[in-house]
Amino acid sequence: TSMAKTFKYIIVGGGVAAGYAAREFAKQGVKPGELAIISKEAVAPYERPALSKAYLFPESPARLPGFHVCVGSGGERLLPEWYTEKGIELILSTEIVKADLAAKSLISASGETFSYQTLIIATGSTVIRLTDFGVEGADAKNIFYLREIDDADKLYEAIKAKKNGKAVVVGGGYIGLELSAVLKLNNIDVTMVYPEPWCMPRLFTADIAEFYEGYYANKGVNIIKGTVAVGFTSNSDGEVKEVKLKDGRVLEADIVVVGVGGRPQTALFKGQVEEDKGGIKTDSFFKTNLSDVYAVGDVATFPLKLYGELRRVEHVDHSRKSAEQAVKAIKAAEDGKTVEEYDYLPYFYSRAFDLSWQFYGDNVGDTVLFGDNKPTSAKPKFGSYWIKDGKVVGAFLESGTPEENSAIAKVARVQPPVADIDQLAKEGLSFASKI
Ligand code: FDA
Ligand code: NAD
Repeated sequence: TSMAKTFKYIIVGGGVAAGYAAREFAKQGVKPGELAIISKEAVAPYERPALSKAYLFPESPARLPGFHVCVGSGGERLLPEWYTEKGIELILSTEIVKADLAAKSLISASGETFSYQTLIIATGSTVIRLTDFGVEGADAKNIFYLREIDDADKLYEAIKAKKNGKAVVVGGGYIGLELSAVLKLNNIDVTMVYPEPWCMPRLFTADIAEFYEGYYANKGVNIIKGTVAVGFTSNSDGEVKEVKLKDGRVLEADIVVVGVGGRPQTALFKGQVEEDKGGIKTDSFFKTNLSDVYAVGDVATFPLKLYGELRRVEHVDHSRKSAEQAVKAIKAAEDGKTVEEYDYLPYFYSRAFDLSWQFYGDNVGDTVLFGDNKPTSAKPKFGSYWIKDGKVVGAFLESGTPEENSAIAKVARVQPPVADIDQLAKEGLSFASKI
């Protein structure tokens, strides 16, 4: 309509990638009124990883404005005023419900129309819900998912309301491990339930998982493996009371936290843009098959040059770097220039209790464990290498120093040959430090 608000650039989604893109736009030069960020959330872009960690601490929890981007990577904190100063329009609490990429327009839930010259899709992921696969009673109160700050606020309130209560955590991935730890720190009695033989199977080897399971057990976290939640019962207030497991067991629960995976939010663009591997397909500059549409962060399926294949990555480091790459490419193209292809080294990390691990590279091939992975050690420090075609392609390290973490990152990037796997296991970290 003639009432459309028009911008040169629109970023749809106001998460991590949007925040880092805004910073890059400011760096490259953007005129007041050229750029808008449209976000369903009510707050300026922030470092999402805080939500499953310090945001839920019992003592002095992290709160905004403390963790707005770009503090997570050691950068400047972009407060709402920063966007105002730069003339970047933050259009918050606004969900886009329709996208017409041919007409270059977006429509919000309240019926506003926005048009753009260049669109950056940064809608991230949404959680998979137990109601999606019809688990009985899964819509009871006090069954929580965690993606956005509103979800974290609701969970925080429940933790306060159910002091010394019982929680069941469904899922043994990132959310499962991080939330079990933080619930335990809040003095909640925690039971984790997951179907696989060990936690975080998409990354951890059995040896790695054995350490974390032992460590969690020593902290008093109960772990039930090899089964799933098939139903919930609730009390007369509609609050969850019990979790029924497939193996017949029934667990009491005041709080349930579910972390059974995420799904990229691409529905708005279905049939309008090319997709691959569940995400929006891009080139090395995060440009889609439409020349004026880019996709970054969790939604992008991009060429991972190091491995010669298309991948989608659901981690914060990539959301930051892909956003910066897209903006650099957009600005360069306007000047008739190009930028280097994205050459990403996958980097994932997690923190829980006093633990902190990092992983770089690709978790394929054979593995060797090194170091002290006894859960009862005073200072456990261990890691693992992944070896494919005679070369180290991935490396994991628990409790590394910054120097040691840089060393394993370098190994994963350089992919040094290994002649003798037993020798590699013996050398452990010192192998990485020599590269
Ligand atoms: P992100 O999810 O950050 O942002 C998407 C934004 O788009 C949201 O604000 C959403 O509301 C908005 N949006 C979606 N659809 C919209 C629409 N139609 N209209 C308007 N707005 C819309 N990674 C890691 O490496 N280490 C870690 O420790 C953690 N920890 C962690 C904790 C928790 C609780 C979560 C949920 C995730 C992590 N991650 C992580 C993953 C990391 O946070 C994730 O990969 C990035 O946030 C992805 O950034 P994006 O900008 O792509 O999506
Ligand atoms: P995930 O993929 O890490 O873990 C999903 C887990 O769900 C599986 O490991 C499995 O144990 C479990 N599962 C699957 N079906 C189940 C069922 N029916 N019943 C019980 N368990 C079942 O996903 P997540 O932990 O939900 O995380 C969601 C998203 O948030 C992901 O994109 C993740 O990368 C991101 N995240 C990342 C971090 C981090 O990088 N440190 C932290 C939190 C969240």
